[in-house]
Amino acid sequence: MTMQADLEMVKALLDGSRKVVVLTGAGVSAESGVPTFRGREGLWKTYRPEDLARPDAFEAHPELVWEFYNWRRKLVAECEPNPAHVALAELERALPNFLLITQNVDGLHARAGSRKLMEMHGSLWQVKCTVCTHAREDFGELEDLPECPVCGHLLRPGVVWFGEPLIPGVLKLAIAQVSDADVFLSIGTSSLVQPAASFYQLAKDHGAVTVEINLDPTPNTGFMDFALHGKAGEILPELVTGLKDRAT
Ligand code: APR
Repeated sequence: MTMQADLEMVKALLDGSRKVVVLTGAGVSAESGVPTFRGREGLWKTYRPEDLARPDAFEAHPELVWEFYNWRRKLVAECEPNPAHVALAELERALPNFLLITQNVDGLHARAGSRKLMEMHGSLWQVKCTVCTHAREDFGELEDLPECPVCGHLLRPGVVWFGEPLIPGVLKLAIAQVSDADVFLSIGTSSLVQPAASFYQLAKDHGAVTVEINLDPTPNTGFMDFALHGKAGEILPELVTGLKDRAT
C-alpha cells in the first residue's frame, strides 16, 4: 500500500476513534534543532548522552553532568516547537479523549499548547534537591553546581536518568491510559528504552490499532498495524488537516 493510502486510513482511524494515546520521543523535536539521543549529532563533546544521564555519572562528576544539562537547557531555550508539536496540540483539541505521553524533557509539547500531556521522563526545566524536598520549575541560567536554597546541598535536574525508576505513579497511570486506547501512535522514538518501548504491545493486547511514525524503522516497526516513514513535522500536519472536530 502506498504511504498516502496508509495516511488516509490512519486519518479515518483517528476520526472514528474512542480514545487516542500518543507516545513521542526525541524524533519529534529533531526538526526544532534538538539533537536526538542516538542520532549522529547526539554526542556532546565526546560523550554519549546515555553515559551522562545516569546517577552514577552524576555522583562521580556532578560538574560535568551539570555542564551537559546547562548546555541542553540553553540549546532548547533557543529552539521553537515545530509543526509536529503543533499538530499534536491540534489533535488534542479535535478529539474528545486523548493523552500525549512524551519521553522528551525539552518542554516543547507544552510550549506548542499540549495540555493533556504526561512528561514521563521529567523536564529540563525542573530542578530538585539531592537531599531535601525542595523542587522547583526554573527557566533561568543555573550555576555549574547549583545549590539548594533551603539546605545548601546540590541540586539535580528533574529528569529521570537511566537506571532510575519513573516518577511514582507515572508508570501505573501510563499503563492504564495505554490499555484503554483504541488507537495508539508511537512517534519519533527509536523504541529502545523501556518501559515506553513496550507500550505499543500493551495497547495491542487491549485491542488498539497501533501506528508508528518515524524517520527510520525501529525494532517495533514490523509489529505495528501501520508504519509511516518520514519526518514527523511533515506527516503529522497532513494527518490532522481536515480531521473532524469532535471535542465536546
Ligand atoms: N521525524 C520522525 N522521527 C525522527 C525524526 C523526524 N524528523 N528525526 C529522527 N527521528 C527518529 C530517529 O530515526 C530515531 O528512531 O527518532 C528516533 C529518536 O530516537 P532516540 O534518539 O533513541 O530518542 P528516544 O527514542 O526518544 O530515546 C528514548 O532514551 O536517552 C533516553 O531518556 C532518554 O527519553 C530518552 C529515551
